[in-house]
Amino acid sequence: MGSNEVVVVTGASSGIGSATAAALGQAGYRVALGARRVERLEEVAQTVESAGGSAFAHALDVTESSSQDSFLAAVRAHWGPIDALINNAGQNLSSLVAEATDEQFRSDLETNLLGAMTLTRRVLPEMLERRRGDILFVGSDSATRPRTWQSAYSAAKAGLEIFAKVLEMETEGTGVRSMVVRVGPTGTEFGNQMPKARMPEILESWKYWGVLRHLHWMPAERVARTIVDTLSVPLESAYPTLVEIQPGGRKREFES
Ligand SMILES: NC(=O)c1ccc[n+]([C@@H]2O[C@H](COP(=O)([O-])OP(=O)(O)OC[C@H]3O[C@@H](n4cnc5c(N)ncnc54)[C@H](OP(=O)(O)O)[C@@H]3O)[C@@H](O)[C@H]2O)c1
Repeated sequence: MGSNEVVVVTGASSGIGSATAAALGQAGYRVALGARRVERLEEVAQTVESAGGSAFAHALDVTESSSQDSFLAAVRAHWGPIDALINNAGQNLSSLVAEATDEQFRSDLETNLLGAMTLTRRVLPEMLERRRGDILFVGSDSATRPRTWQSAYSAAKAGLEIFAKVLEMETEGTGVRSMVVRVGPTGTEFGNQMPKARMPEILESWKYWGVLRHLHWMPAERVARTIVDTLSVPLESAYPTLVEIQPGGRKREFES
């Protein structure tokens, strides 16, 4: 990948997505931003442009086929073919399995897994035809270290890595790449969906199961840098198919 290429970032209205959009803009990519909160997207686009980058914002709900179609049509009409897709949109409707609803399960799977799969399917034929393109999945360490209260989210992120691997196999040698950036705890709005009253219970459970070692979250900008670095590796004989980023530990927070 190189400068001026068109990169779609889903879930670009906040957190890792907006930080990635800013980092891509600074690196000279043209960034197409998609999410449901359009006013927030416009603000992110303005930030990218005031830093000298190029941004295009358009509404996108990754759980809706018609929204995916109109989003991609708008990006192509504005800029032409898409060079890279960053599947970043995500959510986490935390609940114990025994307390969850069908709708919570469905929504987590549709947003985190099916949304990325269907959007990928939509951009892939053009990439294969052009013999170039990158699909980057923003994964989670929940895929390999699943968490209580996050059953559907963890299952979706594990499924996402399997999907990315199969895509990597199916596209080998075509000029199209499939890559996962597996992310550890990051300070974003992601935790806002968690039931605040149950947080002590949730954190205790995560400590018990060894999936929460400390309370240190990475800045979204640091994760964004890793995403852009991964995407920017030139297509040669080798490239990173899976990168994991974790915060440096500050165990003392638990020991005090
Ligand atoms: N924060 C962490 O600790 C952490 C750790 C590992 C992995 N991750 C992953 O990082 C990614 C970004 O999360 P974040 O931490 O940056 O959280 P965030 O600030 O809550 O951002 C989530 C983004 O996803 C978008 N989104 C949610 N549902 C969507 C839908 N149906 N269609 C389109 N966009 C949708 C949201 O935008 P709208 O609401 O405007 O649609 C928002 O821009 C997620 O895939 C998450 O799983 C985060």
